[in-house]
Amino acid sequence: MPGIVVVGAQWGDEGKGKITDLLAERGDAVVRFQGGSNAGHTIVGNGETWKLHLMPSGILHPGKLCVIGNGVVLDPKVLTDELDELRRRGVDTSGLRISANAHLIMPYHLLLDHAGEIKLGRLQIGTTRRGIGPCYADKAARLGIRVQDLLDEKILKKKIVAALEPKRLSLREFAKDQRLDLQAMTDEYLTYGRRMQMYIADTSRLVQERLDAGDLVVFEGAQGALLDIDHGTYPFVTSSNPVAGAACIGAGVGPKDIDEVWGVTKGYTTRVGAGPFPTELDGSLADELRQRGGEFGTVTGRSRRVGWLDLVALRYAARINSLTALAVTKLDVLSGQEKLCVCTHYRGAEGAEFDHFPYHQTVLHHAVAEYEEMPGWSESLRDCRSEHELPEAARNYLQFIADFIKVPIALIGLGPGRDEVIWTKASADMYGSGAVAAPALAAEPNDR
Ligand code: GDP
Ligand code: IMO
Ligand code: MG
Repeated sequence: MPGIVVVGAQWGDEGKGKITDLLAERGDAVVRFQGGSNAGHTIVGNGETWKLHLMPSGILHPGKLCVIGNGVVLDPKVLTDELDELRRRGVDTSGLRISANAHLIMPYHLLLDHAGEIKLGRLQIGTTRRGIGPCYADKAARLGIRVQDLLDEKILKKKIVAALEPKRLSLREFAKDQRLDLQAMTDEYLTYGRRMQMYIADTSRLVQERLDAGDLVVFEGAQGALLDIDHGTYPFVTSSNPVAGAACIGAGVGPKDIDEVWGVTKGYTTRVGAGPFPTELDGSLADELRQRGGEFGTVTGRSRRVGWLDLVALRYAARINSLTALAVTKLDVLSGQEKLCVCTHYRGAEGAEFDHFPYHQTVLHHAVAEYEEMPGWSESLRDCRSEHELPEAARNYLQFIADFIKVPIALIGLGPGRDEVIWTKASADMYGSGAVAAPALAAEPNDR
């Protein structure tokens, strides 16, 4: 029963959508297990670009089961808009299933997210303002409203009243806002409920059935390890756990159902929003990488901060996720750099050397990245389709990463398109061995 988790190994936007779509082609089901419409997952295929926020990145392959798990916080407006858009573009969305236990983003969550950021002023986190933090807070406070509540007007209304009660003070400035009118809100959400009804299911059981049948199930993470609320750069994090362990909780399966964990990393680093970023670059090099990599947020359009590859952070992500393979995306963006820097340790304010990601916020905020320099390459990589077609310097760069992290590289991304990728020899070795019952993965590695 092969279960593969795909997680972000940096600060998000690593290319999880593309990798999930590629695995989904060979798999049977894709499950989103945390986060919400703060995610923006891009897939480029058949000359078209798709930007998905809530829809699992398997939806473009007809007939796949696409699950929004209980761990997701779901904005029904975003979901129904996304459904409309996909249908308009001719995508079959009948494979979608939504957990009845997933929590709903309510209009007051959006307002509170926005107001909270304004109040923080210069200290703001730079959230996507999609209501994620306030929704997870209500879930923990047991004031959340779940997908199943949309199917009963009386229950829905009662729960909205209970959720609004303790927020009266913080919502005072929105007292006249139509979006907070009890009846209007109830009616709006009942309408969403009617639209979503056909997709609502006991998704934990559906996923388990697929795993028991030996199907390949891909658990699609959102955000990334360094944005994890427990293990990331708190408080500059999201409000869920994007690490692999959360796949079990957010999908309703057990730890033994997970066979493989793929960490997605760019060949460099980006971050959107505030918070420490030891390898951050500025000036013309940052601008160049940002332009070449199209580093502008999928959700908010903000410029992404860019920096060199941080192997201290990546090794940390490998540890807390038990990564079994790496997918290194956007290697093509590094073409034309005479030299490349990779961060191998940090230097603390008092001169101490840190080989491991510091757990202390103050240490991390003052950490300075120290680098190993490597020769770059001038060639475009976009047309390479096997490892030996890559320039030697690119191969050395990848080898350095794999050796440092001690995790094999299964996939190399050389462009946004589905075919702009190399399935490595390591992936053939891993999946060709039969150790994981996913022989389809190794059937056609284009390195042969
Ligand atoms: P996600 O949130 O992890 O799914 O990543 P995003 O979709 O937010 O951002 C990744 C961006 O990089 C998207 O625009 C992708 O189309 C693009 N992308 C993915 N892989 C590659 C790659 O190997 N090379 C290039 N140049 N672009 C890529
Ligand atoms: P994908 O799935 C990159 C960041 C926000 C902010 C912090 C908290 O596309 O990789 P939130 O709205 O979650 O409360 O914001 O987390 N963030 C992301 N950054 N990619 C994402 O998702 C992100 N989702 C949230 O920019 O710094
Ligand atoms: Mg993204």
